[in-house]
Amino acid sequence: MPIDFDVHIGCSVAGVGWHCLAVRGSNDLQQERGVSDQTNKQAYNPETDGAKMGFADAMSYGDYLHLQTVLDQQHPLSKAHDELLFIIQHQTSELWMKLVLHEMSAARQALKAGQVTPMFKMLARVSRIFEQLNGQWEVLRTMTPADYSHFRESLGPSSGFQSWQYRMIEYVLGNRNPNMLRPHEHMPAIRDQLAHELTQPSFYDEVVVYLFQTLDGNLDRMPAPQLDKPHEAQPEIQARWKQVYQDVETHWTLYELGEKLVDLEDYFRRWRFNHATTVERVIGFKCGTGGTSGVQYLRRMLGVELFPELWHVRGEL
Ligand code: HEM
Repeated sequence: MPIDFDVHIGCSVAGVGWHCLAVRGSNDLQQERGVSDQTNKQAYNPETDGAKMGFADAMSYGDYLHLQTVLDQQHPLSKAHDELLFIIQHQTSELWMKLVLHEMSAARQALKAGQVTPMFKMLARVSRIFEQLNGQWEVLRTMTPADYSHFRESLGPSSGFQSWQYRMIEYVLGNRNPNMLRPHEHMPAIRDQLAHELTQPSFYDEVVVYLFQTLDGNLDRMPAPQLDKPHEAQPEIQARWKQVYQDVETHWTLYELGEKLVDLEDYFRRWRFNHATTVERVIGFKCGTGGTSGVQYLRRMLGVELFPELWHVRGEL
């Protein structure tokens, strides 16, 4: 016969509300918690559902992804708890940037080949990647100034400023500052790759070719691409976008293209803004580890316009 005792063992969620369990007796206690049911159950074997369980002679998930190699690449230099977060945030951002470059390279190829519709899908994906990168700041924001100060010294002069993939994304899109090659001089293969990008029309230059070809039927009045400097707004280009935006029914594909670019730049701008705000939150107005004025430098970068004519034309409509 169970010993009677009254006790509240805590609260559990049932349906939509919180219900406290008032329990009477030890057997009842176990039954009401469902403990005996759980422990007496045999552990579910996914093999009965067909799951492959042995990988001695087969390619596993980890093999395919080279997961151990990836997971072995985080090497905090301090004992600070938050340094792992900082490393993973940067490494995952770099992985997403790798995908951005993959997509943008294919997008430029597709555009040059006149395959505009498949290219839209790639541009949409790039925008989503930036959106996803924007979400990542939420995690980094959980790091306080004190947390960061515990390992900041370990970073030495290293900084995201030296991210060659970030610079390449800017170069591919059309924001081309040759001064940004210099931090990569010590890695000739990377430096040459970046320098090579400055010899060919940017993605936006190819968009402009498509714009003139479609509207004018030729490139006679198209301004020459600005290969090795940041793209500056050109009145001839803006006039063509105006034509498109004033009659979207006639120029639907160009209109869709214009909006896809605005979308992409919108998400990219948000990334820059989130970065600058997070940095201010963490280091205030201290200089960056890369040597710049820090937040002031990042705020200056907020003024960058990748596709200026597409933004300026809005004031004319
Ligand atoms: C608390 C975290 C972070 C701080 C305090 C920080 C700080 C800074 C600062 C001060 C700069 C200006 C250059 C310098 O003098 O160092 C910079 C640049 C940069 N950072 Fe960060 N950053 C943080 C997180 C990140 C993350 C997660 C990424 C992702 C890859 C990133 C990517 C970049 C890039 C690409 C630049 C160059 C921006 C440009 O030149 O327009 N940063 N960062």
